[in-house]
Amino acid sequence: MAAFPTGFTWGVSTAAYQIEGAVGDGKGPSIWDVFAHTPGRIRDGTNADVACDHLARMDEDLDLLAELGVRAYRFSTAWTRIFPEGGGRPRRQGLDVYERLVDGLLERGIAPWLCAYHWDLPQTLQERGGWRSRDTVDYFADYVATLAEHLGDRVGHFLMLNEPNVHAVLGHLLGVHAPGLTDPVAFATAVHHQNLATGVGIRRLREMGGPWTLGTVVNLQPVLPAEDGEEHRQVAELVDAVWNRATLDPLLLGRYPEQAAPLLGELAHEDDMALIRQPLDVLGVNYYTRTWVRASETSLVGLEQVDPPAGSETTAMGWEVAPQGLVRQLEELRERYGNPPVVVTENGAAFEDGPVADDRVDDPARRRYLTRHLDAVRQAIEAGCDVRGYFVWTLIDNFEWAEGYSKRFGLVHLDRETQRRTRKASFDLYRDLVAGGAEEDLEGSPVP
Ligand code: FCB
Repeated sequence: MAAFPTGFTWGVSTAAYQIEGAVGDGKGPSIWDVFAHTPGRIRDGTNADVACDHLARMDEDLDLLAELGVRAYRFSTAWTRIFPEGGGRPRRQGLDVYERLVDGLLERGIAPWLCAYHWDLPQTLQERGGWRSRDTVDYFADYVATLAEHLGDRVGHFLMLNEPNVHAVLGHLLGVHAPGLTDPVAFATAVHHQNLATGVGIRRLREMGGPWTLGTVVNLQPVLPAEDGEEHRQVAELVDAVWNRATLDPLLLGRYPEQAAPLLGELAHEDDMALIRQPLDVLGVNYYTRTWVRASETSLVGLEQVDPPAGSETTAMGWEVAPQGLVRQLEELRERYGNPPVVVTENGAAFEDGPVADDRVDDPARRRYLTRHLDAVRQAIEAGCDVRGYFVWTLIDNFEWAEGYSKRFGLVHLDRETQRRTRKASFDLYRDLVAGGAEEDLEGSPVP
């Protein structure tokens, strides 16, 4: 099998709220601060007040990245560190945090890929409607412009929003993520206004004229019918339209998918679709798993999500391990959306890792997961998909949203009591791969 193309970007991704800690340093509250402090919301009763204490341990964490040898690091900025109430005058101390981070990356030869929004909306804006309100789009555009103004001399890649579809479904429809809403209207408006924020943000930065690579990040999952039959095929198409295409189609084709148009199309003002469809220099794709659904008469919405077929391998999240879904998803971008330049901005898995022993953690399942998914990326490239990079989720075990700290996705193990970081075997695998030394594993020799 062919090697990865020259210039392929190897990276690692993180998100501000999941790692930073340092909530007491003048940062304003975000919807995730409020949600995590609401009893019963987080499975293990924790919050991210300290998380990985990353801001205090930044040098140690940047040294880990350097040791991995990655040439790119995708992180998110916490909106409320810069604008505690969402807008107004930017806070110097907040900007300093990210200047320090960016400078630390550049000193180590690592390119900063800045993602402006990873779900932590300012609580003040939430109280004014959050993503239900169109005003949030303008606040977002001002925030992104501030980031570019202050960091754009050193940051070459700006990504707008992380997974607006997940934020809309889990946060606004199912209520299991912040802001905890279970409201179809909130869901629909959150989809549309986040799409609009993506377009307006990109346009704003393009008008500023910096030499930047501009893009955004979506979560994609092939949706499959769990049973034969027209009704099951139709619900799979509907879920695909709502989950994947309600974001992809407007961004890349300038319209809502037919199945979602009755709900979303009517929210769009006259020029919205043109605003959303800005040329993307890069589309970030986060891929973890596929979704199986079936039509169901007993369910209120006429369909249900079901387990993957018996015998499927699953992660600690219960997600099916399905590297073939990644190939399919990348091929779909080629076939249906004109083969945009894609970077896999997140891929990884939570497993029950081995214990810390001799300053190491053994994690064979994660090694295998990463190896198989990288193989999938390579297959897609061979099939003509324009995939330009791959970022592992994530560097260090962290606050996994509603799961708290119970699910570990890191290449590095975190001991929360001591904040000690311990490299896992997958860290070595990825380091060797980035250095070009893991060809053998990828050629299909058995990975332990
Ligand atoms: C993605 C999120 C990321 C992390 C992984 C496991 O949906 O973007 O923050 O939680 O899932």
